[in-house]
Amino acid sequence: MAAKKRIGILISGRGSNMLSLIAAAREADYPAEIVCVLSNRPGAEGLARASAAGIATQAIDHKAFDTREAFEEKLDAALRAANVDIVACAGFMRKMTAGFVERWRDRMLNIHPSLLPAFKGLDTHERALAAGVKLAGCTVHIVRPELDAGPIIAQAAVPVLPDDTAAALAARVLEAEHLLYPHALSLIAAGRAAIEGEQVKIAQVPVNQAIPLYWPPLS
Ligand code: GRF
Repeated sequence: MAAKKRIGILISGRGSNMLSLIAAAREADYPAEIVCVLSNRPGAEGLARASAAGIATQAIDHKAFDTREAFEEKLDAALRAANVDIVACAGFMRKMTAGFVERWRDRMLNIHPSLLPAFKGLDTHERALAAGVKLAGCTVHIVRPELDAGPIIAQAAVPVLPDDTAAALAARVLEAEHLLYPHALSLIAAGRAAIEGEQVKIAQVPVNQAIPLYWPPLS
């Protein structure tokens, strides 16, 4: 097997997606290893969870820096010090400058809890319910300077149920996130996903599994 890609995860909060990546990367045949978890919030619950899982962590408090660039300089230095190949944002709640994003061009991933390009930004589940969509979901994409934009690697769709609250929908989507993110990262790390302009082309997709999802069901 080719050398495993070295992954740095960026978080700001509870880190449940981070844990799903850590768990996936424990498998011997997973093409990536998690080498560090960095948070802009020193109190992020995910930092303790990563430490408990035996992963090196570092808090880089954005409030300790005068400018966004100075904060990102430190973040970038920590990623490079750990020889990170690919950055995986997992609930990282800081806007990034175009300069930082470009330094990691095509090597930085993010997960967003909607079927992009719908419902970018915050409060996605509330807005999905207000719009009355029947399918919601999540997206893993390559990070570009515009918020929640960039080449899409993989998506998962979940039904919206008649009595859904935003919390109920968020929980259903989160369950899908925990499967989708390790899958999407493995496609990139294994070299099965080629980024061509603003599209991601995936090799060896089992097209015989392309089954439409109808919601409400046809019958
Ligand atoms: C997830 O819903 C993710 O899609 C979004 O922020 C949330 C982070 O949750 N970007 P967690 O910290 O991974 O539990």
